[in-house]
Order: sequence, then C-alpha cells, then structure tokens
Amino acid sequence: MSMSITTFNDFRDAITAYRLPRVLIAAIELDIFTAIGTDPWTIPDLAREMKMSERGLAILCRNLAMAGLLKKQGETYRNSRLGATALNAQHPAYRGDYLRLITSHWTDWGRLPESVKTGLPLDHDKPDEPDYRRRFTWAMHHRTLETAPKIAAQIDLHGARTLLDLGGGPGTYAMAFLAKNPMLRATVCDRPAALDVAKEIASTHKAGARLSYLPLDLLTETISGSYDVIWYSNVLHIYAPQDNQALFRRALAALNPGGRLLIQDAFLHDRKGLFPKEASLFAVSMLLFTERGNTYSAAETRAWLTEAGFGRIKVLRMKKGTEDWEDGILEARSPGAHEKTLARRTGSVKSSRSRSSR
Ligand SMILES: C[S@@+](CC[C@H](N)C(=O)[O-])C[C@H]1O[C@@H](n2cnc3c(N)ncnc32)[C@H](O)[C@@H]1O
Repeated sequence: MSMSITTFNDFRDAITAYRLPRVLIAAIELDIFTAIGTDPWTIPDLAREMKMSERGLAILCRNLAMAGLLKKQGETYRNSRLGATALNAQHPAYRGDYLRLITSHWTDWGRLPESVKTGLPLDHDKPDEPDYRRRFTWAMHHRTLETAPKIAAQIDLHGARTLLDLGGGPGTYAMAFLAKNPMLRATVCDRPAALDVAKEIASTHKAGARLSYLPLDLLTETISGSYDVIWYSNVLHIYAPQDNQALFRRALAALNPGGRLLIQDAFLHDRKGLFPKEASLFAVSMLLFTERGNTYSAAETRAWLTEAGFGRIKVLRMKKGTEDWEDGILEARSPGAHEKTLARRTGSVKSSRSRSSR
C-alpha cells in the first residue's frame, strides 16, 4: 500500500514517469490507432497516409509497441486488440469521449501550481452549461461501461424494487442494475443535460423501459419519491463535508424503511488518510476542477452517515480487478431496517421462549 521516494534517483524516476503517459496522449491526439485500423503498416506508408515525418512516427510507434499497444513484426506495425477497439474511432467499442476528457487533463495538470496557490479550480469548467455537461456525461459513460455490469453482478439487490441513481449522469450504473435485476425499476437523477444523454443510452437497451428521470439540483433540493436503494456514485468527492452531510440527511428521508444507501467513491482507508494512492491523487483533480471537492476517508464518511441517522455501515468488497475504486463502496442502512431486524430478533426470542415454556 505504501509508496516511498527516498533517494534522488527514486525522485528522478518518479518525475520522468510522465514520459510514457505523454507518448500515449500524443498517440491519441494524433489518432494513430484509428489510422492504423485493422491493417499492417510500414512506417513510410503510414507517414504518407498520416502526412507526418517518418522519423517522428518511427520513434512514436516503437514506443507504442514497447508499451504493448502496437505489435511490431519485421518492418510493419499493426494494432493490438486494445488499439484496434477502444482506441480506434472506427470501432463500435471506441471510448473516445472518455479518452478526450482524460487527455485534456494533461494541460490542466500543467497549471497545478496556480490551483495550489489560490486553492481554487481552473477557470474553464461550467458544470451547468449544457454542451459541457453533455460531453462530460458521455465521457462518464465511456469510463464505466465495462465496470458497471461487473459491480452490479456483485451487489445483491434481491427484494429491492426501486433504485435511485443519485447524480447518475449517463445512468450507466442504473442500466447495469436494471439489466441484472428484472423486478427492479430505477430513476436516474441529475442535471437536465445529463438526463438527455441518459435517455439516449437507455433507448438502446431493453431494460431502459424501466428507467425514469428526475431532474434535480441534488445539492439543494429535496429528493422526491421513496426508494429501496439509493446509489450515490462518484459524487461525494465533488463537494465539501458539510454538503455531503446535508445530502445524507436528504437521502435518508428519501429511503424506504429498510432501505440502503450505497456510496461509491475514492475512499482513503489507512489511519493517516494517505492511501490508496489513487484516492490521494484524485483529490488533486478535485482541486483543479471543483470549488470545494476532495477525497475523504471511509472513517469520516461513516461518521457523517452515523450523524445523519444511518446504521450498519460497512465496506462492500468487490473482486479485485472489478472495482471502480479500491474498496470504494460503503453501504449504510436506514434505521428502519435496523429496528425491523431488532424487532424480528426479539420476536424470535419470544417465540422460542414461549415454545419452551409450553
Ligand atoms: C463524476 S459524475 C458521476 C456519474 C455517475 N454517478 C458515475 O458514477 O459514473 C458526477 C455526476 O453528478 C452530477 N451532479 C453533481 N452535482 C450535481 C448537482 N448539484 N445536481 C445534480 N447533479 C449533480 C453531475 O452532473 C454528474 O453527472
């Protein structure tokens, strides 16, 4: 879990690790995987096709082959499976909207000292602007389309009839839960422009008929309806602790007795609040792109949940390699469930006593 830079060489290696990411970003910016497509290419032919220098392309392709993204055979290069699919704009599995979002972060991270000095985000994101929201929402869909079904397969929603995907964006998780649970109906709640994308995506799935839409400012408005499950994924980190505490109270009011709040986020899990590494690094993104966001420890989130009135809080562990974040799901129960269970237990004690006294 720990990571330690102690020698100058460790420090140099950590800094120069930017080189491979920059090579990968250049490949996406130049759209090289699309240009290569399904054919084998020599460098001179590819350079002619892409109108680029042979020298530049030869060095770039050699590095992409070193990273396993291209396959080199003799003097020719062809795409790896990943290059030919998710990275290739001609393929139906292309995840271009997410690729564009993460590659654009390179320039933003270059401005990190500005945000560290001011404590404020860079100036370009406008969360409520419809075009921005649309692009971002498609990016979120391309981010989680493989992960969501794997997570839905591991969370037992047996008995649940209604689920709210709060801040659900494209509804990719809601759709995955619906596909897995035929008796479930779901509502995706977000800004209107995000819901337009969710509707487009749902219209391509059979289970989309069981999805409805709730436009809402989740930061300030009461959550209408009542649900067996609220799925709150990747929103906690956008806001400050007091925003999240207030949101938990509104979420509790919208849960049926016995209901569950499932929070998925980049939680810190160690005592000092440093690890996993991804969770600390993700806080930097929140500094760059949000006014009050951060990443939080599982322990402090538990405390906010308890204060809001939730009980029986635990981490749901997903199989390694299937998670959105490492140990990234917290489950909390509405007190109704707890009381019901206690009542049931008391009832069963009474009945066994009465049996033995008969
Ligand atoms: C990082 S995305 C996560 C999307 C999805 N839940 C997932 O896990 O992939 C955060 C979502 O929360 C929504 N959101 C953030 N603040 C909101 C607010 N105040 N009202 C409504 N939606 C909000 C955003 O529009 C966005 O769709």
